[in-house]
Amino acid sequence: MRFHALAILSSVQLTTSLTLPHFQTIFSYPSPGASLYDSGYDIPSVHESAVQARRILHLENIGTLSTIFPSSSSRSDSTAFENRPSDVGGTPIGLMDYFGDCEPSTGNPTILAIDIATSFKNAAAGSNITLSLRWHPPDAHARKYSTANLPRYSLVGYLEDIKDQEVKEQGLVGCFTKYHPDARGWLPGNKIHESHWVRLVVQEVYWIGGFGDRAYIGWIPVEEWRNVTRGEVEECRLPGEQDTKFFLSHLWNR
Ligand SMILES: *[C@@H]1O[C@H](CO)[C@@H](O)[C@H](O)[C@H]1NC(C)=O
Ligand SMILES: *[C@@H]1O[C@H](CO)[C@@H](O)[C@H](O)[C@H]1NC(C)=O
Repeated sequence: MRFHALAILSSVQLTTSLTLPHFQTIFSYPSPGASLYDSGYDIPSVHESAVQARRILHLENIGTLSTIFPSSSSRSDSTAFENRPSDVGGTPIGLMDYFGDCEPSTGNPTILAIDIATSFKNAAAGSNITLSLRWHPPDAHARKYSTANLPRYSLVGYLEDIKDQEVKEQGLVGCFTKYHPDARGWLPGNKIHESHWVRLVVQEVYWIGGFGDRAYIGWIPVEEWRNVTRGEVEECRLPGEQDTKFFLSHLWNR
C-alpha cells in the first residue's frame, strides 16, 4: 500500500495542472464501500470495482501478458532457435497481446495463442500468466484525466486450451475477429504459424481504480469478478464515456 501511495504522489507532482486531491487524502486508504469519506468522494465497493473491471475487459482489446522464463535446465528444444540468454530463467517478461471478451459468463479472456511466441512458450513450460490492462478514455476526453487516476488491473491465472466444439458453440472466431479483424491472418489452421485458442482462467484480480481517496485499490475476489452480470456491464460508465452507444453489444449477441 505504501508503495502505491508513493507512486501516486510522484505522478501528482508531475501533473499539478489537473484537479488533484490533497496529499493527505492520497495517502489514506479508506475501506471499500465507505460512503462520503472526508475527501468528499464515494469509494466504489469491491463489487462496483469488479463491474468496472469487467466493462474494461469488454471495451479494451489489447493488454500485456506477463510470464516467467523457465530455468535453463528445463528448456525445451524450441528455445534453441531463439538464442535466448542463459541467465533469464525465473525472470518475468511482459509482452503486448490481443484478447477478446468472448466468454462473458465467466469473464475469462479469450486469447489466440501463437505457439512460437514467448508468452505461450513460457506458459507451455509451466509458467502462470498475468494479463494487465487499463482503461483508455475515448480520445476526445482523454486529456481531461490524469492517467494515474484511471483504472488499471491485472488478471492472474493460467492458460487452458479451448476445445474445438466450444470454439464453435460459443462463436469465438466471430467474436475475436470483431475485436481483431487482422487476426484472421493467424487463425488456427493458417499456413504460417501454429496457433490455437486458449482462455486465461482467472484466479486472482488485482485492481487499482485510481487515486486511493476515491477508488478501491486491492484484490477483487474472483467470485465477484465472475458473477458480474451482462446488465451490470452494460449500465456501468467509465471515466470519459458518454452514452450507451459505446457498448459493443453485438459481440455478445450470438
Ligand atoms: C501457478 O499458480 C498456482 C496457484 O494458482 C500455484 O499453485 C503454482 O505454484 C503456480 N505455478 C508456478 C509455476 O508458479
Ligand atoms: C457475487 O459473489 C459475491 C462473493 O461470493 C457475493 O457476495 C455476491 O452476493 C455475488 N453476487 C451475485 C449477484 O451473485
